[in-house]
Amino acid sequence: MKEYNVAIVGATGAVGEKMLGLLENASFPIKSLKLLASKRSVGKTKTFRGQELVVEETTDASFEGVDIALFSAGGGITKQFSPAAIKAGAIVIDNTSAFRMDPETPLVVPEVNPEDLRKNHGLIANPNCSTIQMVVALQPIREKFGLDRIIVSTYQAVSGAGLHALEELKTQAQAILDGEEPVANILPSGADKKHFPIAFNALPQIDVFSEGGYTYEEWKMINETKKIMGDQTIKVSATCVRIPVMSGHSESVYFEVDDKDVTVEDIWEVLKDAPGVILQDDTANQVYPTALTSVGKKETFVGRIRKDVDVENGFHMWVVSDNLLKGAAWNSIQIAEKMIEMGLI
Ligand code: A2P
Repeated sequence: MKEYNVAIVGATGAVGEKMLGLLENASFPIKSLKLLASKRSVGKTKTFRGQELVVEETTDASFEGVDIALFSAGGGITKQFSPAAIKAGAIVIDNTSAFRMDPETPLVVPEVNPEDLRKNHGLIANPNCSTIQMVVALQPIREKFGLDRIIVSTYQAVSGAGLHALEELKTQAQAILDGEEPVANILPSGADKKHFPIAFNALPQIDVFSEGGYTYEEWKMINETKKIMGDQTIKVSATCVRIPVMSGHSESVYFEVDDKDVTVEDIWEVLKDAPGVILQDDTANQVYPTALTSVGKKETFVGRIRKDVDVENGFHMWVVSDNLLKGAAWNSIQIAEKMIEMGLI
């Protein structure tokens, strides 16, 4: 079996560390692994498959001989270094939003649109974490019953905003428990003017505000869902909220199918064997997905499926996944695995 030279850009970050952990355990065919980050991290070491690897600074020259470059260091870093990586012959799998809506760039969730991988020009975009888990749960339903509309409200974990945000959550929680004033420097968005505590709070802002009163995170869910599903006519609306959970995004998803005769049992039937989905829906025994139980798992968990009280073809469900795994690191590695399987790398 062919083996590959792999690089992780952002190897010291929340997602990069998960990538390293997944590659450690997976049967992924690695010849060599390069850990790249900023100048600040040069010289830090990490153990991989029994070997000590030293973190290097990311430069244009870093990608010589690299076959697969997994980027997760922010959109600016992708824009700065992905051209050099592609020029060096690497396939870039990018976890940032830099190229997601670029018409030339495939935006892929392997369970949903693997065929789009064939259209790549050296870079594949990994969708937004909240979008990934939602489309994994909805696509099997869409294939069977058609899908007309989606309204989603998210309850997103702090790790999605990076390791510094997680530290801030812990420090604020301790400050409040100690009777002190919590200090907020990062959330809701490092790019916005004001900051509010996330500890013991819920913030209805993820990323900065954009058109129509929606945030960029909400627009990402709207636009990316249509692009991944390859259908601009699906109606999508989103409200994205950050909550003081460390990892595991939860979503309340309302959707309308085309077929008016669909029952909850029909949806269970479709989801119980759907790729990447674990159905946890038994309210009589209080069985439903939670953020904590999703942590460390690669699947998307679905429960609380019920018919809308008024709308005949409307349903509600609760969708949970580990935002750092299926929402980021695992989806990226799955893309690489799929490309190898399809003979594209
Ligand atoms: P570093 O740790 O050296 O700053 P998170 O999303 O958890 O905040 O992580 C962001 C990741 O992006 C980290 O690995 C960080 O490395 C990396 N990063 C930040 N700035 C750069 C840069 N200029 N070049 C390469 N990697 C960077």
